[in-house]
Order: sequence, then C-alpha cells, then structure tokens
Amino acid sequence: DWTMGAYREEAIRKIQQQVGDAKVICALSGGVDSSVAAVLLHEAIGDQLTCVFVDHGLLRMNEATEVVTMFREHYNLPLIHADESELFLGKLDGVSDPETKRKIIGGLFIDVFQKYADGIEGAEFLAQGTLYPDVIESVSFSGGPSVTIKSHHNVGGLPEKMGLKLVEPLRELFKDEVRALGHELGLPASFIGRHPFPGPGLAIRCPGEITREKLEILRKADAVYIDQIRKHGLYDEIWQAFVAILPVRTVGVMGDGRTYDFACALRAVNSVDGMTADYYPFTHEFLGETATRIINEVKGINRVTYDVTSKPPGTIEWE
Ligand code: XMP
Repeated sequence: DWTMGAYREEAIRKIQQQVGDAKVICALSGGVDSSVAAVLLHEAIGDQLTCVFVDHGLLRMNEATEVVTMFREHYNLPLIHADESELFLGKLDGVSDPETKRKIIGGLFIDVFQKYADGIEGAEFLAQGTLYPDVIESVSFSGGPSVTIKSHHNVGGLPEKMGLKLVEPLRELFKDEVRALGHELGLPASFIGRHPFPGPGLAIRCPGEITREKLEILRKADAVYIDQIRKHGLYDEIWQAFVAILPVRTVGVMGDGRTYDFACALRAVNSVDGMTADYYPFTHEFLGETATRIINEVKGINRVTYDVTSKPPGTIEWE
C-alpha cells in the first residue's frame, strides 16, 4: 500500500527528529498498537529503543510468554520482561470501583516505568501506542458536553514529575490504519489481526473485587471461548471478543450434585474504531455449544450468559 509506505517513511523521519540521540523506552503490551509502535520505533532508532513488557498479572492465558518470545526471538528487540504482578494485584486487593481500578493501574504503570527508565542511562522518552480514538474519547462523548466516560490509563499525558517526554507515533491513526501499518512493517498477519486488548487488562473484565481465583477462572473461560470462535472460523469476522466473570455465584446442577459457582458473560462486538459497536449475532447453536464447553472445561463456572448490548448505550468492556 503506497499510502502506508509513505506514512511509514514520514513517521520514521518524525521519530528521528523528535528523539535525536536520546534513548527511548517503549511500553510494549503485546497488543497490536504497542507492537506496531515498537517495531516502527526500532526501525527508526534501532538500539536507542528499549521495550518494557509489564506483566501486571492481568494478562490472558500464556500471553506473557508468547509476547516475550515473539519480540525477543523474531524481532531481536531489546526487551525487559517486568513481572510486576504481585505489585499490581496487591494494590488492587479489595478494590471494586471501576475508576479506582483504572487509576491504580495507570498510576502503577507510571511508577513501574519510572523504575525501569531510571535503570536505562540516557532515557528521555517514553513511547506509547496511543490511537486517535483514545485521544478523543477521553475528552468528549457523542458530541455532548465534555465528559470522561472511562480514564484510559495510557492517555492524558504523563505527570511532569516522571521526567520523560512522550513519543506517540500512532496518535493520528485509527485501528484499521494501525493494522495496515503493521502489515507494511512486516508483522505476521496472525498478530496484526489480534483483537484489541485494553491496557487495564482482565481487571475491567472482572467487575467487583479482583481475586486470583477469579482471574484464573476468567483466563480459562476466555481461552475456551476464543478457541470456539477460531474453530468456527469467526475470529476475523469479529472485532473484539472476550469473557467477563461476573461477581455473583449461581446455583447449578452437575451429575448428582448441586454446584454454586460463578456466572460469566460472553462478549463479542463488531465495530470500526471502538467508538460505537454492535453485538455479534452468533447462532444459538454456537452459543449453546460454547456454554456447554465452558461449563464442562472450566472449574468454577456453572452459568454462561451472552451480552447483547450495543455501544451506545453500553460500552464494549464491562467497566
Ligand atoms: P469501551 O469499553 O470504552 O472500549 O467501549 C472501547 C475500546 O477501548 C478498549 N479499552 C481500552 N484500551 N486502555 C486501552 O488501551 C484502556 O484503558 C481501555 N479501556 C477500554 C476496549 O477494549 C475497546 O476495544
């Protein structure tokens, strides 16, 4: 695509101009956005870039290993794997308010980055894969009065005290344009096609208090759901899909016994840019089969619901 080719050259020039000889640390989450940002930055400034992958303990099944392996082995990117899950989960212990969760996670991200930035001599910049919709949605909603719907932990500028300047090479792009740029940069199609995953991770798919038990159950249920979607050839038809574990136990029956386990909600939406979304019209057969698999394969869940809310009035995530 010649347009993206030109955009790439221009973006590389801009990065080189902004950064000069300084070192940059990049928040690599493993999502499409930060991955494209990291590869673009690596192309622009080579080893002046150090990526930091923060494992906040709120990632999906096998996610940390997959991301670290791919970027170290295939891209040769200087990458620090920061396992800070104890820190994040500790501070989130007992917290159930959605905005408080987001603020805690966002604040810790900054602290953690400060810590790693301090260890990299000459680091002056922090790179983030912020997109255009992130920038505008945290400011206004549906043309109405200026209201914050959700604090995005990766938007809003960094506190002055952090002492790092911001590089946001994707700030002008929509999601589909980031994917085109990723393709242009040679990222594997399977990676570019990954559904978006929010910075606060599973924290906002676990309404109410976050516990390790709920996170483990959520990871397993989500893996089964995504496996079902892939097996039915639907992954690329859907913009984003995930499971949320609900803060309620319900009564069920399994064999001769009564169960009292968590309920979960399946979410799948189609969207262009995340600003508006329609729930995905799965067949009843698919939903029934998926519910059966989750209940049989995931200990701790005995009820599965499907979320048929579109955005607006709902949001895509549950928090
Ligand atoms: P909502 O729930 O606001 O989500 O309808 C719209 C899209 O944004 C993602 N999302 C986030 N992404 N940091 C992110 O990087 C965040 O704090 C965040 N919150 C929501 C969400 O997954 C969906 O794709």
